[in-house]
Order: sequence, then C-alpha cells, then structure tokens
Amino acid sequence: MACLGSGRLCARSVEKLCQLGQKTQIRRKPSAAFVRIKEVGIQPLSRTLVQHCKDHGAVTSQSQRLFSSQQAGPGPLPDYQNVDPYRLLEDDLKDIYRDIRQELRWNTNQDELHTIATYYFDGQGKALRPMVAILMARAINHHMHKSGLLPAQRQVAMIAEMIHSASLIHDDVIDQSDFRRGKPSVNVLWNHKKVTMAGDFILAVASMMIARLRDNDVTLTLSQVVTDLVQGEFMQLGSKETENERFAHYLTKTYRKTASLIANSVKAVAMLAGADEKTSEVAFQYGRNVGLAFQLVDDLLDFVSSSAAMGKPTAADLKLGLATAPVLFACEKFPELNPMIMRRFQEAGDVEKAFELVHKSQGLEQTRFLAKKHCLEAARLAGSIRESPYQRSLMVVSDLVINRMK
Ligand code: FPP
Ligand code: MG
Repeated sequence: MACLGSGRLCARSVEKLCQLGQKTQIRRKPSAAFVRIKEVGIQPLSRTLVQHCKDHGAVTSQSQRLFSSQQAGPGPLPDYQNVDPYRLLEDDLKDIYRDIRQELRWNTNQDELHTIATYYFDGQGKALRPMVAILMARAINHHMHKSGLLPAQRQVAMIAEMIHSASLIHDDVIDQSDFRRGKPSVNVLWNHKKVTMAGDFILAVASMMIARLRDNDVTLTLSQVVTDLVQGEFMQLGSKETENERFAHYLTKTYRKTASLIANSVKAVAMLAGADEKTSEVAFQYGRNVGLAFQLVDDLLDFVSSSAAMGKPTAADLKLGLATAPVLFACEKFPELNPMIMRRFQEAGDVEKAFELVHKSQGLEQTRFLAKKHCLEAARLAGSIRESPYQRSLMVVSDLVINRMK
C-alpha cells in the first residue's frame, strides 16, 4: 500500500497513466473537451440520450435532476485521494503478459504460431481489462472480509486480456488495419489465414484456462463474452433506418463489442470470491458502465485525437463506414448526415463532410456527456463496495476513462 497518497510514481505507472490521459497526478484535471462543454454550454439533450441514460442505468436520482435542469455538464467527479491503480497493482500486473506468453508457449511447439499469437502481448497495451478485473477481485475480497487475490481471479484477468487480444487480431483482419499500439498491426506482417488462426489459437487456450477454473457459472459468464463480441462485431456490419433505432443499435453493439468483456470478467472475479448475486450484479454493472464509457470516449477520440497519440489511425470509423455516437448526435442538428449514414459514407466527399458536420455540431460534447454519466454511475456503484484502496481505485478508473487522451 506504499503507493497510497504517494507523490512519486514508478516509471511503469507514469507510462500507463499517460496512456490513459494522466500525467504524474491522479487528481483530475478537466480535459479540453470538457472545458469546452463548460464554455459553450451543452444544448438541450436529445430525447434519445435522456432515454438511453434512463434505460441503461446511467441516470441516478441525482443525475436525473441534472438532466431535467439541463445544466452544462454532470459536474466534477469526486476526488479520490491520489490512489494510483497501476501502482497499487504493480506486483499483480507486472508478470501478466509474461504469464500469457508462457501459457501460449505451453500449448504449441510451432514457433510462428506462437510469434503471431504473442505479437500484441508485448506490454505496450494499457492492460485496462486485467487491471480492472484484479481491482474488482481485491475490492470484493475485502468487501467479503477476505484478503489477497485468488489464483483463479488472476487467471480471469489473464483470460480477459487474451479474449480481448484475440478479438483485436480478428478485428484487424476485418478492418484491414495498418497500425495498432504504435506498430504495424498483426495483419500487415503475416497473411490473413495465419493471423486469423493465431486469434483462434489464443481464444482456444483461453477456453482451456476457463475450463480449468472448474466453475460452471464462471464458465457461462466468460463464454457469454465471446458470444457478445461476435454479435457486436456482426451488428457493426449493418445499420438501422430510423434515428431512434440507430442509437439503440449502436448502444447494444457497443455493449456487446466492448462493455460485455469488462462487465463479465469483473462479475466472474466476484463470483469466484463467493459473492452473492447482488454483489456480483454490482460488479457487473460497474464493468458495464466503465466499458460503455470507454467505448464512447474511444469513438470521441477518433474525431479529436491524433494518430500519433492513439498509436492507430484516427477518423477511422467514418472511413470504415461506421456511424458512432458523435455522428448520431450530430444528425439531430444536421439531418443531411442521414443519407450519408445509410450509404456508409461511401460517396466521394462523405467522410470529409461528415467529419466537418460533427465538429460543427454538439455531437462530441454530447458523447462526452453520456460517457461521463456512465463513469459517474460506475463510481457510484464502486462506492457501494466496502471501502479499501482497491475500491477507491475502481472510482479512479472511472475518472481515468473519462479523461483519457488515447
Ligand atoms: C475493436 O474495434 C474490436 C473489438 C473490440 C471486438 C472485435 C470482435 C470480433 C472481431 C469478433 C471475434 C471475436 C473473438 C473473440 C475472436 P474497433 O475496430 O472499433 O477498434 P480499433 O480502432 O482498436 O480497431
Ligand atoms: Mg478496428
């Protein structure tokens, strides 16, 4: 616990925090986009947005008041006393990638397969999923008057990162991407057949690790993630005709593609701690809200961040034909976006025009507003867990997610 309240951060923590938009302090600084919300004031929120927040648990009675009074933003997140989650979990996280590489090695003697499968396990990722899973595990263990981290819970953290990586490998093939995490994406270096099988291999090894946990409910919970990932990715291939349907479609897709993995892995570690249904549900809802916020910010950053900062190309979603939250919100002010969405920005000039209209609209501010609602809800849920550095770090994570720059 030496990290609590400490002004000094280890090199790895600084690096990770910078990746998540923090410098050497956890104390929250308003991001540029949030400042802009305050400056310009947000337009009355669309009915779609308000309805989504009500339907999806991002509106508490307090935030409901904020909606009805249509204030500029949901206000500052509380200060969480400089707890640094990466530093707190330094020992738990430091060998995660080594252990994943080793697990993959034990399961194949084919060097090329191992090389491709381990390409993204180079320690350059944010390790958000293992970090959140271990934080939740330790927080729930403490909540239940137990201490430490169960080996099975650490396995879930590894499994979450493996499923994530397998899905990214498949995604890079589908998106024909060039760049990820500041280096050529895996599909650039090896052919699609080998890359796809390397993704399958990671998933297969992760499945064996799930089976070794010998817990049927945890197996079902983690298997749900894979079903959701595939369905989310499949949903992304299609779009809906009417505006309302489109937003619901986007949010369901976002849950399946991004939030389900975080939600179900934190639920799994809670179940492994022996938590009751109510506590497991708190964990699940925390992960769901963090996951939705994370993807909303990702979709926002695609419009405002540089490729250099992100380590992958930006403005990529429009080029891929995807209408994410900023575009869907922008539609309210600029209905001429509707036909462009329907033709997936395929006509000459569509991408440039849509990009410009999004920036002229309130779409970016509304996206951040919605992301912040989910972060606040996640922090509120973490607040219902018995107090510990891990529980407080779960609150910090929601803060990092909303303020991340890449
Ligand atoms: C990144 O999306 C992709 C995902 C979060 C999930 C992709 C899921 C699949 C390909 C289904 C198959 C799943 C498994 C487990 C094999 P993005 O393109 O929006 O993000 P990016 O900019 O980082 O590429
Ligand atoms: Mg992609």
